[in-house]
Amino acid sequence: MTTVVTTRDSLFESVQLGQHSLKNRIFLPPLTRSRSTQPGNIANDLMADYYRQRTGAGFMVTEGTQIEPRGQGYAWTPGIHSKEQIEGWKKVTQAVHEEGGIIFAQLWHVGRVSHTSLQPDGGAPVAPSAIRATAVKSFIETAPGQGDLADPSEPRALSTSEVKELVALYAQAARNAMEAGFDGVELHCANGYLVNQFISEHTNQRTDEYGGSLENRLRFLKEIVEAVSDEVGKDKVGVRFAPLFESTDELRVYLGLVESKPYETYIEAIKLLNNAGIAYLSLAEADWDDAPDLPETFYQGAREHFDGRILYAGKYTPEKAMRILDAGYGDLFGFGRPFIANPDLPERIRQNQLLNEVDPATMYGGTEKGYTDYPVHL
Ligand SMILES: Cc1cc2nc3c(=O)[nH]c(=O)nc-3n(C[C@H](O)[C@H](O)[C@H](O)COP(=O)(O)O)c2cc1C
Repeated sequence: MTTVVTTRDSLFESVQLGQHSLKNRIFLPPLTRSRSTQPGNIANDLMADYYRQRTGAGFMVTEGTQIEPRGQGYAWTPGIHSKEQIEGWKKVTQAVHEEGGIIFAQLWHVGRVSHTSLQPDGGAPVAPSAIRATAVKSFIETAPGQGDLADPSEPRALSTSEVKELVALYAQAARNAMEAGFDGVELHCANGYLVNQFISEHTNQRTDEYGGSLENRLRFLKEIVEAVSDEVGKDKVGVRFAPLFESTDELRVYLGLVESKPYETYIEAIKLLNNAGIAYLSLAEADWDDAPDLPETFYQGAREHFDGRILYAGKYTPEKAMRILDAGYGDLFGFGRPFIANPDLPERIRQNQLLNEVDPATMYGGTEKGYTDYPVHL
């Protein structure tokens, strides 16, 4: 009998991303942890420690970071629109760079997935169309340091000129991210938030140039990608999508995550990104227990139409990552919950060590408990 020893060496090859030569193929995906300083949603020393601990990753993306006050849908998430927020993020980028890490800021606008109590002057959340989000919760502060889930409020539809102003807000946020010392920015176009709301026919019933045909529904994406690329350089831009091909959960359809024609929609979107020449495409695969896998044809289509790096995350194991890498479909692989619980995850993967379990109770909000105190044992 021969013993087959599988090594994980292929995950530890150096790989080029934009101008950066990454030390491995493992990335920290964007993970909302809701621990910014209040008031003001400001990144802080605790967050700098958290990111510093995870610099074993070849590449890191911050938690979703609102580009403007209306872009917030959950209490205590950090922003990148005020002077104080830019200063706060400098602590994070400095800590990461001291350890030789590379980090992009995830630029986030929740659109309709928000609550009036999170909005400036208690206004209605803004969205492509005035269609309320029903299958998802916002998270509001009920007392200092305490909060609760809440149904998103009825949104109002953005006017055409407001959509154009939003494009400029994305460019401004990207400029702010560079000022804060980030190596680049990722546009959060996934998970039923603002950009996804424009893409999906379930959430976009506009009759102007931003609605109707697929080309029109992709126009907001195209304009923000171009505006942000002009601002920071296309080699410093990534985009994240979460295409879903079937739903085991009827409710997810209302999130706008399931398109009538997901293959056509997302391949067209990917072609658009390829023409823009951005550094990477990040594909978030479904991560709940009975989630359907992406069809093989979609992995193939994405690879065929996108020349930059392709990042995958969503219930990945090192074995699945190696399979996708060997097939030539993807370049970098994200581990979300495992990275929350294992600051030294890449080393544990390399050595095939046991992993700490994540504590769901401390995922969002709170202190260093369940944030920077997970044990490192190597
Ligand atoms: C606590 C938590 C917060 C998350 N926050 C974000 C986020 O801010 N932006 C985003 O694009 N995805 C977010 N995600 C999705 C993750 O980036 C990732 O795709 C997901 O956790 C699946 O990977 P995993 O199965 O390895 O955890 C979050 C996931 C978790 C568990």
